[in-house]
Amino acid sequence: MSRLIVVSNRVSAPKDPAAGSVGGLAMALSSALRKYDGLWFGWSGETVEKFVPEAKIEDRSGVTVALVDLEPQDVDEYYNGYANKTLWPLFHHRVDLTAYERSYGEGYERTNARFAEVLAPLIQPDDVIWIHDYHMIPLARDLRRRGVTNRIGFFLHTPWPARQLLVTLPHHRRLVESMFSYDLIGFHTREWLDLFRDYIASEPEVRGRLLPNDAVEAFGRVVQTGVFPIGIDVDGFLKARNSAFGRRTYDRMAASAAFRTMIVGVDRLDYSKGLEQRLLGYEQFLNDNPDMRGDVFLLQVTPISRDEVNTYQDIRSRLEGLAGRINGEFADMDWQPIRYLNRTYRRDQLAGIYRAAKVGLVTPLRDGMNLVAKEYVAAQDAEDPGVLVLSRFAGAAEQMGEALLVNPFSREELSDAIKRALTMPLAERKRKWECLMEVVRDTDVSIWRDDFVASLRATNRPADGSG
Ligand code: G6P
Repeated sequence: MSRLIVVSNRVSAPKDPAAGSVGGLAMALSSALRKYDGLWFGWSGETVEKFVPEAKIEDRSGVTVALVDLEPQDVDEYYNGYANKTLWPLFHHRVDLTAYERSYGEGYERTNARFAEVLAPLIQPDDVIWIHDYHMIPLARDLRRRGVTNRIGFFLHTPWPARQLLVTLPHHRRLVESMFSYDLIGFHTREWLDLFRDYIASEPEVRGRLLPNDAVEAFGRVVQTGVFPIGIDVDGFLKARNSAFGRRTYDRMAASAAFRTMIVGVDRLDYSKGLEQRLLGYEQFLNDNPDMRGDVFLLQVTPISRDEVNTYQDIRSRLEGLAGRINGEFADMDWQPIRYLNRTYRRDQLAGIYRAAKVGLVTPLRDGMNLVAKEYVAAQDAEDPGVLVLSRFAGAAEQMGEALLVNPFSREELSDAIKRALTMPLAERKRKWECLMEVVRDTDVSIWRDDFVASLRATNRPADGSG
């Protein structure tokens, strides 16, 4: 079998796979790379004064990684700039937060061309290349310019935006045209794929054609597209949950809850996660249900993220203010309604925390998939499972219809859903949990990975004479 090359902005191949902090995606990709003797390519996270077009090759527990250092200006314009200030907010429907700076677009193009310059010589004739996420959309085009004819696939981990919003991006056509250098483009949900197809078919500057079996034709090329819903590494997660540390964390949480019911939220500190709306919904719940005050508390775990970007600094200070205000208003001498923390936890600890929570609040305003929803379900005890409250705007809602689906923009709906979750009879909780757990198992990350790679290998290349 030919080699697999995985490409992503962050290379998360673990140095020590036994460490409890390693995520399911990193594990799944690493194990595929071990199996196919592959390579994981991306940014080192480091800067150098002058770009050197050569990768630093390392071995990380049997996975070969190839890392590139970038210049500070690249990091500013490509990562903080175009990726995180332009594409991320736009793809999450926040045109109000989107920066339309020409220099960011130029830095994005330059940095992707740099990645191509370093990656192209590492590619062998039979390799299959899998590029991940919005940081590197034009990379296939840049590799083709360097003569690479291998199969190249792209997977988007975020939502794809509605055409009416995408067209606010200067050069939207150029960005989408660059995607026609791939052989396969994957999305988490039918909804994101349909929005992509709508752009191709309806955008006057494109006027492409929708072909059978989700192929699309535009810019003189045909590309295969598909829906590949990602999941968690179920066995690895259950092992972490049942480990000594996972169980100890559960006991510690249960003791610290002191017979109060815990509601949990775990999210990167990002405006797409609907955290302000969530806290306001929880405040509404406290107002609507004075008799339940003192019996519940919300543990909100929110690691700081992308803190060089101003919109992230803003949301951080707004959340601090809001959590402080709600606590100040409602807390009693022996009860605090919100425990708000910015630290990160290892996967085994998180599993113990989820397990101790009777309600999981996963209420993003827009999210590609959201794996916290799946982890929360997997962590529950079959005999007494907690209830998942899930935003209808998370990709996960497409599969997890048995959760309590909510509109996260409505504080009243959030309040009602929290109440319903807290008072749901055991039989209903069990029935819902069993359905949801089946979804979690059916979408295991290894299924997602193998499905995508097999579909990519099965695409026709023009070089095969069949495309
Ligand atoms: C999202 C993106 C990933 C990204 C992660 C963390 O899940 O889809 O590509 O790696 O956020 O963000 P960061 O900017 O810290 O890599």
